[in-house]
Amino acid sequence: MPGPMFSARSEESSLAASDVGLTAVSDLAVAAVEQIRKGMRDRETALPAGRPGQVDDVVAAVLAGGILPDRGRGGRDWPELLRGFVAGIVDLTADTVAANLQAPVLAIAAVADFAAGVTGQSVDAWESGPSGIALERELIAALWNLLGHSGGDGVLTPGSTQSNLLALLLAREQSSLGASFENGIGPTRRRPRILASELAHLSIQRAAGVLGLGQDAVIPVPIDAENRMLVGAAADRIAGLAEDEFPMALVGTAGTTDFGSVDPLDGLADLARSHSAWFHVDAAYGGAAMFSDRARGRFRGIERADSVSLDLHKLGWQPAPAAAMLLRDPATAIPLDCNVACVNPRDDEQAGYVGRFARTLQTTRRADALKIVATLRVLGRDGMAELVDACLDLAVHAADRISAHPRLRLVSEPQLSVVVFRYLPVADGESHVISRINAGIRRRLMRETGGSVGRVDVATPSGLPEVCLKFTFVNPYLSQSAVEDLIDMVVQAGSAEEAQG
Ligand SMILES: Cc1ncc(COP(=O)(O)O)c(C=O)c1O
Repeated sequence: MPGPMFSARSEESSLAASDVGLTAVSDLAVAAVEQIRKGMRDRETALPAGRPGQVDDVVAAVLAGGILPDRGRGGRDWPELLRGFVAGIVDLTADTVAANLQAPVLAIAAVADFAAGVTGQSVDAWESGPSGIALERELIAALWNLLGHSGGDGVLTPGSTQSNLLALLLAREQSSLGASFENGIGPTRRRPRILASELAHLSIQRAAGVLGLGQDAVIPVPIDAENRMLVGAAADRIAGLAEDEFPMALVGTAGTTDFGSVDPLDGLADLARSHSAWFHVDAAYGGAAMFSDRARGRFRGIERADSVSLDLHKLGWQPAPAAAMLLRDPATAIPLDCNVACVNPRDDEQAGYVGRFARTLQTTRRADALKIVATLRVLGRDGMAELVDACLDLAVHAADRISAHPRLRLVSEPQLSVVVFRYLPVADGESHVISRINAGIRRRLMRETGGSVGRVDVATPSGLPEVCLKFTFVNPYLSQSAVEDLIDMVVQAGSAEEAQG
């Protein structure tokens, strides 16, 4: 009798969702959690302090013997790998982390994500994960409901970079349907233009490039003193388009990365409608703030968008990926429609076996709806709102403290949970010197304290941007006194940078 083909039989290599495998999963999960707990306790700082290359040294030591040894090292190797990994992570629960839109993860979300992994579901073909498919459909409806619209469609994506791409792809398809024969004599070849605020996320430009429109198809629209797109200026830009150009899409940002500012969405919806342009809202950051009644008012008009990008791995506290591209009119998804025998044969679909393949550019895709739905049901709208409000409060508290501090200048009042400010040296210097000091503060904090704050290069009329610092509050459990300590940390680092000259 020939022996088994696969010889590495061990607890670790049993099939996770099998009876035997689940026992292994349980044992391994408990051990992994303990290892993470120990690793987190051993950590002294949020980021590994010191030079960045030190992390590579730790990882290299853990990987001694190579990633793909000729003979498997067995399960005892795994805790060691996890130890090295945890030693080099950023601790998103730490008091000294306020740099990015990278939220700490809720326990329920982490475990639901794990459950999706254990069961190995995919949502492309019906038979790959029927309940994940149904959950995703229901979740999309619930998210539209949150935004104030019913009857919309959409799909979960790896993040808003991809959501923005997908939305602009559909905008392009829609515009070519409407524009191609409008002069009645044949296809016109007008160049599509996308209008977005100067502060729109770079992924808008990159999407335009990927779509073959060229990154310069995105026309930056000036902003007001509160960093919101000027609707009048957008109208002027449209009026100024050349004869062979047309406004394919207007992109409003609901929560800019740099300032958390929310564009006047209602006005932009009107403008888009009056030019038959697609209206896309990039609510990657801000969308989830709509759980809070306190914040909702800022988003009026989002319900009129043709498409919306919304992340729940920012505010939402999910492990990435947890993002949605929402489509107002299900018919506009038709360009993504396709059938292939190996995934979604048309006759199967007609018999009700419908997966999510024809709604996205991906094929295999995790059942990410599970973790989001689990979180929303466990916390409810009020629980989510409480977490959102806690982040908003932290930003207000930080802004108050910064305003009162002689060595700091508040650059923008918080609109969501972002606060932008600048360290002011004792010896007043030229702007580029102050910029250098502020840039230095960020690196010094990472190197010496293992803490992190964000950076914003604020445009100025001189053309020379001012380097500023930014707190991004996405940890709702941070205390107000921790915020005060963070401010002290920044000021101390600023003094040290200044002393260094
Ligand atoms: C406004 C905005 N849009 C898009 C993105 C990209 O989102 P993701 O990282 O989920 O791809 C970000 C990321 O921070 C963002 O702030």
